[in-house]
Amino acid sequence: MSTLLMKAVVLGFLSSAFAVPFNTFDGPGFPACYNVSAVYQPTSVVEMVSLVKMAAASNIPVRASGKGHMWYDTMCSDSETIIIQTEGVHSISDFELTGSEGSVMIEAGVTFFELADYLHARNASIGYALVNWNMTIAGAVAMGAHRSSLREASMVASGALEIHIIDGTGTIQKVVRDETNDDWLAASTSLGLLGPIARMKFKIFPSFKLYAKQETLAEADVLNGDIYGLIAPYATANFWWWPYLRKFHHRYYDVIPTASTDQQGFQSTFSITEIEAVAARTLLDSGKILPTSNMLSETIFEGIWSAPNFHEKSNDTTITTWPVYGWDYDVLIGGLYPGLLPEWDYNLRAYTLELAFPVTIANQVLQRVRGLFDAQLAKGITMTSTYRSGINIKFGRAYNDLLGQVWANTTDGTDWTKGAIMFDFPSYRPTWGDNLRFNEPFYHNLSSTLINEFPCRPHWTKNSRDVLAQSVKNLDPGHLQRFAAVREKFDPNGIFKSVVGQIIGVM
Ligand SMILES: Cc1cc2nc3c(=O)[nH]c(=O)nc-3n(C[C@H](O)[C@H](O)[C@H](O)COP(=O)(O)OP(=O)(O)OC[C@H]3O[C@@H](n4cnc5c(N)ncnc54)[C@H](O)[C@@H]3O)c2cc1C
Ligand SMILES: *[C@@H]1O[C@H](CO)[C@@H](O)[C@H](O)[C@H]1NC(C)=O
Ligand SMILES: *[C@@H]1O[C@H](CO)[C@@H](O)[C@H](O)[C@H]1NC(C)=O
Ligand SMILES: *[C@@H]1O[C@H](CO)[C@@H](O)[C@H](O)[C@H]1NC(C)=O
Ligand SMILES: *[C@@H]1O[C@H](CO)[C@@H](O)[C@H](O)[C@H]1NC(C)=O
Ligand SMILES: *[C@@H]1O[C@H](CO)[C@@H](O)[C@H](O)[C@H]1NC(C)=O
Ligand SMILES: *[C@@H]1O[C@H](CO)[C@@H](O)[C@H](O)[C@H]1NC(C)=O
Repeated sequence: MSTLLMKAVVLGFLSSAFAVPFNTFDGPGFPACYNVSAVYQPTSVVEMVSLVKMAAASNIPVRASGKGHMWYDTMCSDSETIIIQTEGVHSISDFELTGSEGSVMIEAGVTFFELADYLHARNASIGYALVNWNMTIAGAVAMGAHRSSLREASMVASGALEIHIIDGTGTIQKVVRDETNDDWLAASTSLGLLGPIARMKFKIFPSFKLYAKQETLAEADVLNGDIYGLIAPYATANFWWWPYLRKFHHRYYDVIPTASTDQQGFQSTFSITEIEAVAARTLLDSGKILPTSNMLSETIFEGIWSAPNFHEKSNDTTITTWPVYGWDYDVLIGGLYPGLLPEWDYNLRAYTLELAFPVTIANQVLQRVRGLFDAQLAKGITMTSTYRSGINIKFGRAYNDLLGQVWANTTDGTDWTKGAIMFDFPSYRPTWGDNLRFNEPFYHNLSSTLINEFPCRPHWTKNSRDVLAQSVKNLDPGHLQRFAAVREKFDPNGIFKSVVGQIIGVM
């Protein structure tokens, strides 16, 4: 075993007295964990297994990490922890596709981008079980990540057919999709608490093309409108809310015949030029104290976001008219435009919050948020969206597991069977002073108000410790108990513990 460990790249192996933070994608100053004594970069599942065995033997907590695409300090517990960084374990094998559905085996470190490339070369796709490009599919499954759809299954976990987990003894347990088995229902959104996901058998489909279209709606037409009816007909759809301008963007996508277009639209949500970045940062930084800067920012961002955020993939030219057409992954997710960096690489960073509510109360929830904005306005304080793409309003079709955001069968007395609306509120983090936002208390008041007044469930990587702690009262105690029982079986000594697991009381 020691030979194998020698092969693992040890980035830092410090005594716990010198434990260091392990950062999120935002880099130094943005810890995912505070107390990390070593980061290993294995290149095979066999090495991952031996790392877990080593951790188990010395009783040192261990967590897997993909791309660090999470916002808060909730990846580990605060005890000394070692990290298994999975990037180098990324084989894709066992491709099989005949007819309308097939499967492929992917290892822990495979990213959406890598899988999409691999599949596109074989005329295949992962359908709608996808999120942002530069993160691992295993990391997304572990944390219950999702796209936005009421019509199609859009939890990333809904694409998993088998999840192979390295348990607390270093044994790989193959958990196969079976909704009558609590092991499966726990593994489907495991929060990493059952052990690192080593590999997954994933559902695939033939490649397809889609259109993307976007319209601008008056705020009242959404707040008082048929929200379900605006979203459910489409393969995938969402809103972006511009609360200062009292508008929504309504984005929707659906399938078109493959032969109907040659356009190869490629979406980018995060690409930005340096000039844009510096201008945005200057304006948003002044918005820490000047609300007029925030009003101007929202106005500029809404204008930019009204045009397609797509380029033609074959020659990287800007696409200027809706609808946009192209291949599945390129249209639904895309990535970075050649030569450009994502916004966070220009020191544009955000706080965030995401809560899911039954879609049956979507109007009440959004009206309540409007009410909180208006209550500030009545006091002479104008609140805005300070994010490049507004406030993100997503949706999720019901999907059964124990800790996902869209589980339908619940004892909280409300109807989740129609699906969920997610209120995902990113907001600019000023680069100066105390880094707090303009009217900082508003944000905390908003999250507490929503959590206290409505049935809701937190996203597992987009909420602060404080929001997670407040959210526990809305979680189904029966689910927490059943999850804790499976966790105990996989990891009796709690070596995979995390702050999230501790907050929700399943450790
Ligand atoms: C720019 C951006 C856009 C995003 N968009 C969306 C979105 O549209 N929808 C959505 O739902 N979420 C979204 N997210 C959140 C994202 O899906 C999750 O945070 C996801 O867990 C990140 O995966 P990662 O590979 O970067 O994992 P990391 O950030 O490295 O880890 C996240 C958590 O997963 C655990 N983990 C990682 N790998 C494994 C593994 N192999 N086995 C067990 N546990 C593991 C880690 O221990 C940690 O607790 C977004 C995040 C960012 C930064
Ligand atoms: C993806 O993330 C890695 C860090 O894990 C970074 O080095 C790389 O530039 C990113 N790639 C893209 C396309 O954003
Ligand atoms: C790190 O964790 C160890 C126990 O695992 C603890 O003794 C130590 O105080 C922690 N250090 C920090 C900086 O939290
Ligand atoms: C993909 O499909 C096209 C026709 O739709 C075909 O020409 C091509 O050979 C296929 N490629 C693979 C790798 O199967
Ligand atoms: C880029 O490609 C598209 C689609 O093939 C084409 O219509 C357009 O004219 C091209 N633009 C340039 C500048 O080459
Ligand atoms: C839904 O919950 C009830 C009561 O807890 C339980 O009897 C039933 O089996 C559950 N159904 C599913 C699909 O889990
Ligand atoms: C917080 O919200 C409540 C309503 O839930 C409101 O009465 C109060 O004024 C708000 N306070 C702040 C600081 O926003």
